[in-house]
Amino acid sequence: MSHLRDSFRFPRADEIPERAQLAFPIEQREYLIDGVLRRWDGQQEDVLSPIYLRDAEGAATPTRIGSIPSLDGDAAMSALSAAVSAWDSGRGEWPTMPIGERLACLERFTHAMVDERERVVRLLMWEIGKSRKDSEKEFDRTVEYIRDTIDAVKTLDRASSRFEVASGIFAQIRRAPLGVVLCMGPFNYPLNETFTTLIPALVMGNVVVFKPPKLGVLLFGPLLAAFGDAFPAGVVNTVYGDGKTIISPLMRSGEIDVLAFIGTSRVADILKAQHPKPHQLRCVLGLDAKNPAIVLGDADVELAVNECLLGSLSFNGQRCTALKLLFVHESIAEAFVARFAAAVAERRVGLPWDDGVAVTPLPEPGKTARLRALVDDALSKGARIVNEGGGESDGSVFAPAVVFPVTPEMALYHEEQFGPIVPIVPFADPDEPVRYVVGSQYGQQASLFSSDPEKLAHLIDPLVNQVCRLNINSQCQRGPDTFPFTGRKSSAEGTLSVSDALRVFTIRTLVAAKDNELNRSLLRSITREHRSSFLSTDFIF
Ligand code: G3H
Repeated sequence: MSHLRDSFRFPRADEIPERAQLAFPIEQREYLIDGVLRRWDGQQEDVLSPIYLRDAEGAATPTRIGSIPSLDGDAAMSALSAAVSAWDSGRGEWPTMPIGERLACLERFTHAMVDERERVVRLLMWEIGKSRKDSEKEFDRTVEYIRDTIDAVKTLDRASSRFEVASGIFAQIRRAPLGVVLCMGPFNYPLNETFTTLIPALVMGNVVVFKPPKLGVLLFGPLLAAFGDAFPAGVVNTVYGDGKTIISPLMRSGEIDVLAFIGTSRVADILKAQHPKPHQLRCVLGLDAKNPAIVLGDADVELAVNECLLGSLSFNGQRCTALKLLFVHESIAEAFVARFAAAVAERRVGLPWDDGVAVTPLPEPGKTARLRALVDDALSKGARIVNEGGGESDGSVFAPAVVFPVTPEMALYHEEQFGPIVPIVPFADPDEPVRYVVGSQYGQQASLFSSDPEKLAHLIDPLVNQVCRLNINSQCQRGPDTFPFTGRKSSAEGTLSVSDALRVFTIRTLVAAKDNELNRSLLRSITREHRSSFLSTDFIF
């Protein structure tokens, strides 16, 4: 990448290729409550795209691509009361429905969702600036997650379709739903991370109110009707608007049983504190992280550079799992930094639909200024930008900045940048990065780079009790989705993976009876004559 002005410019409207076109503005007024798409005639909020359009004079400004409802507290409470009625104290149609029938609803939804792929992909590009390749990956990964969830539910159900006997007691043990789940995903994976809580919560018999993230909202529009058609009334409800106005009343009502939230620990703390019955509320949270890479002196430098590049700059560094601080041993720091800067220079800046694009516009308003302030703070304390053009910005585009040497006095050492800045810290003693991880308020993952088994083992043992995944000579990442994804300290609560998510949205519940002739005959009658959906030995094939 040379200087930003030489390599990038926002398009004019007539330069948008067919494969990226959207008929905007999209004025979405519908929201889903109690199985019906209601129309909101109140205030709307504009949706601005990070992809600016140039006018005839060449001036580029954010593109208004539509608007979404800005619901008030009353509308949000009617979404909640639809969910509460559908739950009906656990006696509703959905929580008591045989699992095979629930799966059939989810399969119906998935068919309808797949039909909307192209539209959702285009909205991902326009709303959050994600490249077409990554937008397609997000959509396909989500569909695969749903299909894997369906398989995992069948496996779980088969394992529970029998009685256990111990100490003269028969019991059937199942996972039962918890109630009303409030789901809120993040803007960087608006579809995937919303659905990796919403889908398992639903399929296990809970009812859901979900709020799309603050950015990446219109893309849920094409799916609302599919939710309404596939599930019984009140099982899926949506709310749109300002968190303080619509989420606070929901939390304060005490009717939310599970908060599934991916975002900042600051917001999670506010929401948790609003709930009047803290022991009723289960929290499933994916929060802040500052995952470090520790590159030892004997690491394969080329491999480490490639993995750290992917880890720190995929989707412009806007991943909770991104590598946000690189500790590099002083003996190879110079070589590493030079190669890293050269690799960053190869990354193409462009629009989400450009082939091979790696650096795209950032969707958060004011983000480039906040990133610049972090860089300036580091520069004022002795660091420098080591890649040509790093840190330059044009509207919503920020050229990745590789900042070296970063020290504990700089904000970049501690703060989660969640964007395209790569801070590199030279170190002499491997205990330095270990002390950093121990002292950090975060505890999600770390990456270790070395070719020496002894040195790696020496780092693995102290770090496994500080973070929840160590990646050897590999970037940090969430996937594959069958692996547990969680964190310690302020990074997470609860564990998500295809199978863990089924557990986290349920509670083990059993029906037990002392072994005697009366109870045997009762259990036999209930199961043979299919009198109960919980107490059942039916088997899903
Ligand atoms: O933003 C956090 C995501 O869960 C990261 O997922 O590691 O697969 O990109 P990923």
